[in-house]
Amino acid sequence: MTSRDDCAALDAKDTLAALREEFQLTEGEIYLDGNSLGPLSKTVRTRINEVLDDQWGRGLVRSWGTGWMAQPTRLGDRLAPLIGARPGEVLVADTLTFLLAKLVGGALQLRPNRHVVLTDVANFHSDIYIMEAMCRAAGRPITLKTIDRDSLESELNDDVALVELTQVDYRTGESLDLKGITTLVHDAGALMLWDLAHSTGAVPLNVEDAQVDFAAGCSYKYLNGGPGAPGFVYVRKSWQGVLQNPLPGWLGHARPFDFELAYEAAEGMQAFVTSSPSIIALAALDGALDVFERTTMEDIRAKSLALTDLFIALVHERLPGVFQLVTPLEHERRASQVALRHDEGYGVIQALIERGVIGDFRDPDICRFGFTPLYLRFVDVYDAVEQIVEVMRTEHYLDERFRVRSAVT
Ligand SMILES: Cc1ncc(COP(=O)(O)O)c(C=O)c1O
Repeated sequence: MTSRDDCAALDAKDTLAALREEFQLTEGEIYLDGNSLGPLSKTVRTRINEVLDDQWGRGLVRSWGTGWMAQPTRLGDRLAPLIGARPGEVLVADTLTFLLAKLVGGALQLRPNRHVVLTDVANFHSDIYIMEAMCRAAGRPITLKTIDRDSLESELNDDVALVELTQVDYRTGESLDLKGITTLVHDAGALMLWDLAHSTGAVPLNVEDAQVDFAAGCSYKYLNGGPGAPGFVYVRKSWQGVLQNPLPGWLGHARPFDFELAYEAAEGMQAFVTSSPSIIALAALDGALDVFERTTMEDIRAKSLALTDLFIALVHERLPGVFQLVTPLEHERRASQVALRHDEGYGVIQALIERGVIGDFRDPDICRFGFTPLYLRFVDVYDAVEQIVEVMRTEHYLDERFRVRSAVT
């Protein structure tokens, strides 16, 4: 049996322990939902205040000329190492669904003789909605086929233009093989687009080594950029200047302040900018990225696996047979969240939230627990499981109040 003292001993040896101080966490609460919305950090507050007081407050419109315009590409370069991209391959802008629209719309024009887009039937619904819309707008008949991702190989043929997959399944936390799948897709002559929403800042990624064509992600989950924070888009160097932005706007123009009526794309990632950058939101992300410069994705990964291993082991030890583990046990297939299935999953999560353990619920029966190594301690995992044990023992999860689901689960 693993004891709380065993967990405290792990915390004493934890090389990331000091980073917890950077975050605003509520005393008595255990936050296991950083896979949905990361917490506020001190440097976010500082950076936002600098922008408010110095740049917007005093600099006013002059600040556009002294750094604001370059923020989307500058922050892209800061974020690039987290996904294994090179400088000049990442842009921070818009939000994820919009970025997927840009990439799908552009990619479909690169394979004009192919008529199928493949995606995972278990993909996030927003990905599917926007891909359907972009397929309809492609100017030729395109079928979006939602498949069981395990059958991808047999679905690939010379009519497939593009494959889009979410690298970490938002429900189960399963991590897909970035390089293996990208290679398979390329072997069929198709293009590969990855949604990295649940991967970035959670698992080490190497888009360069995997030869990924395009990717996009969000920054409000493991990157802690704040609610509705801007997303990021990756376009491999060799596709820049070839892939067209289907949603062009003035700031993606080569000379926006010439106010020309004919569109001419800017060079590099700037071509994927459409509108004015959200400077305050970008400042928040800028601050949020500071903490990643004090560690490495490899260290984050090692602690993440130790945390999820501990959680899984404790749930098995203390609640045998109560939940069905849907997250893979194999490390190479596991990201940084653990999903437990239970018929009363919604009630379980609500009861836990009342007890200060914040996870979330995904339809139909999945309790999700995110483990962010930057601020979670091993004792937090122990205490969270203690509360799950209590919720099940007291049947708190069956409370009448949890019969009706709230709009946000
Ligand atoms: C896998 C995945 N894709 C897409 C989205 C949509 O992101 P956005 O609201 O930034 O468009 C989300 C949101 O959580 C997501 O988890």
